[in-house]
Amino acid sequence: MRMYDLIEKKKRNEVLTDEEIKFMISGYVNGEIPDYQMSSMLMAIWFNGMNDHETTELTKVMANSGDMIDLSAIEGKKVDKHSTGGVGDKTTLIVAPIVAACGGKVAKMSGRGLGHTGGTIDKLESIPGYRIALTREEFFNTVNKYGLSLIGQTGNIAPADKKIYALRDVTATVDCIPLIASSIMSKKLAAGSDCILLDVKTGSGAFMKTLDDSIKLAETMVAIGEGAGRRTVALITDMDTPLGFAIGNSLEVIESMDVLKGHGPKDLTEVSLQLAANMLYLCEKGSLEECKKLAEKSIADGSAFETFCKMVKAQGGDDSVLRDYDKFAKAPYQREILSDRNGFITKMDAESIGVTSVILGAGRETKESDIDFSAGLVIHKKYGDEIKTGESLATLYTSKENSLDEAERRYRLAIKIGNDQPKSEPLIYARVELDKIEKF
Ligand code: URA
Repeated sequence: MRMYDLIEKKKRNEVLTDEEIKFMISGYVNGEIPDYQMSSMLMAIWFNGMNDHETTELTKVMANSGDMIDLSAIEGKKVDKHSTGGVGDKTTLIVAPIVAACGGKVAKMSGRGLGHTGGTIDKLESIPGYRIALTREEFFNTVNKYGLSLIGQTGNIAPADKKIYALRDVTATVDCIPLIASSIMSKKLAAGSDCILLDVKTGSGAFMKTLDDSIKLAETMVAIGEGAGRRTVALITDMDTPLGFAIGNSLEVIESMDVLKGHGPKDLTEVSLQLAANMLYLCEKGSLEECKKLAEKSIADGSAFETFCKMVKAQGGDDSVLRDYDKFAKAPYQREILSDRNGFITKMDAESIGVTSVILGAGRETKESDIDFSAGLVIHKKYGDEIKTGESLATLYTSKENSLDEAERRYRLAIKIGNDQPKSEPLIYARVELDKIEKF
């Protein structure tokens, strides 16, 4: 078999066989197929796509390219969650302890920030002492004892995805449904949970900008998960506007704790409750309505917050910062962005707002950059809100004083103020199960 012939085949929009997909992935992982041939194949896939069978086969081969984690030493149903990436998306910090407090098990490996989107692991590391690397035994014990453990991706999970993702990132081939679906689902299948909830983001801050594409991506991933014997559900949620008000690592931990204490922002609380209810549903804790009530109760009685604190402590973190936010390191420089007119916020470009937080130091400019955990921004006026001249649109936080001008310029470009109040957008657009799509 020759990679050249496979590229030629895909270029002509023909279907690759299982053997050809195996040859291509194993050859690329072991270095026999060079980057330039794989790049060419990725672009051919970008233009011509893959059918469902090819996408499923690609996912399985990528999942099996490294360790397949066995979580059987953890009692009960294990449920995983994956977000396709967003700005201000801190829902894992909220839903994992809710699910654990209600009897589900969350043994979750999370990622770091990517581009303009934040990552759960960076947020957790803003808690002093928190260890994202545990031994296998510590990981299993923490989940068995407290119902959850959130750690960084360990070992050799889907190395084929790691290599292909890095290539896609620099060859303009990220935004392609079969490639995104196989990338995400290969890692989820290898991570070993019994069931999977997917949060597929749609809108200006997401990889998928339209609802139709987001639904197609969700259907593809749900079919792959179910085909591999894992119960899988997807929610399509809004990412035109950042979720909640806070963007930046410790700022997002604080906002997540506010939700767990029952006084978080409405949009973030609602999306988190829906995600948690669906995870509990997958864990067979009742109907969706019953599961939502369970989730609400775990916030009202404090058990979700206490569960999160216990996990943080078990993983070496200082949980006192979660009760007294003044103990978090503070950014030395702050700036208010003031409105220069009266009106309503008619547009927020979530991607540009994410980039603003990176400029302030909350994300990485290069792979090697250090993160400033205290950096970021807090939005005061969101889509649809009324604003008056001189009122604050947002507060910027940073340790780099010289980043403030550029960050302010970016933020101002990211929002539009108009004369008329825009119509409100849904937070959750659709729910996708195998062969079933509900639009809201
Ligand atoms: N997240 C992933 O893990 N892979 C993609 O391709 C896109 C988002």
